[in-house]
Amino acid sequence: RSFENIETAVKGKIGLIELNRPKVLNALNRQMVTEILEAMEQYDRDPDIKIIVLAGKGRAFAAGADIDEMMDADAISLETLNQFTDWDRLAWIKKPIIGAVHGFALGGAFELALCCDMLFASEKAEFGFPEVNLGIMPGAGGTQRLTKLVGKTKAMEWVLSGKRISATEALHFGIINSTFAEEVLMEETMKFAGNIANQPPLAVRMIKESIHKAVDYSLYEGMQYERKNFYLLFASEDQKEGMRAFKEKRKPDFKGK
Ligand code: HXC
Repeated sequence: RSFENIETAVKGKIGLIELNRPKVLNALNRQMVTEILEAMEQYDRDPDIKIIVLAGKGRAFAAGADIDEMMDADAISLETLNQFTDWDRLAWIKKPIIGAVHGFALGGAFELALCCDMLFASEKAEFGFPEVNLGIMPGAGGTQRLTKLVGKTKAMEWVLSGKRISATEALHFGIINSTFAEEVLMEETMKFAGNIANQPPLAVRMIKESIHKAVDYSLYEGMQYERKNFYLLFASEDQKEGMRAFKEKRKPDFKGK
């Protein structure tokens, strides 16, 4: 399937998705978000793909939702369009998603970044929620995901002021995993993704699922969930192989079964 607003490429076991409307700094129109979801779901079903990398082409990750598309929107049409179901589906992707952010990740693009499981950014990357300057507010999880991640104090400051968050600050508050010089951001992200892609796929899957549950389950429920996933992995051949390889002092050969 060919896409109009994104570019996809398979690099070994990595499924790459690049936002591709560079003339408007990859402003996310609804079609682009749908395409991102379709590409992700395709990768999620593909047994040869183990991990997904999301990045932006041109000089930014993305400058937010497409303002041209939102200008004349009204509340009722937004309600009936129900565009955010695409965003909800993002949370159902089972394989890890790594975001590589350079330039701007503002508004809806910051929300998209916050949907990733891990984030690498260029040292010069800038994050932020400028929605308030347009008379609106984040609508795709910004007030929720950011607050769960950094707490009320900084979320209030950043979302109310609309100010930019530098990569250094984002790193300090645990929004991103690491920063790199822009020239090597993609290379380093792909290297890291390649390492995760070689981990036993079932364990990776259960780990992602369990960590996600920690965000919205109580500790007690989360512990039960973790335990079930832990037990489940003992039904896999990879568990036998991993432990046998350890005893035999050799490299394990994981099959994802
Ligand atoms: C539509 C956009 C855009 C956007 C940039 N462009 N951001 N078009 N929607 N969000 C367009 C510009 O109009 C311009 O087109 C071209 O991209 C290059 O942008 P410039 O402004 O010339 O670049 P620069 O001077 O470097 O400034 C970069 C910038 C600025 C600081 C990122 O573009 C900016 O402030 N953009 C808007 C950021 C924003 O408010 N995002 C939040 C959107 S609301 P032309 O034709 O003039 O060359 C949102 C709600 C989410 O995201 C809701 C849930 C999905």
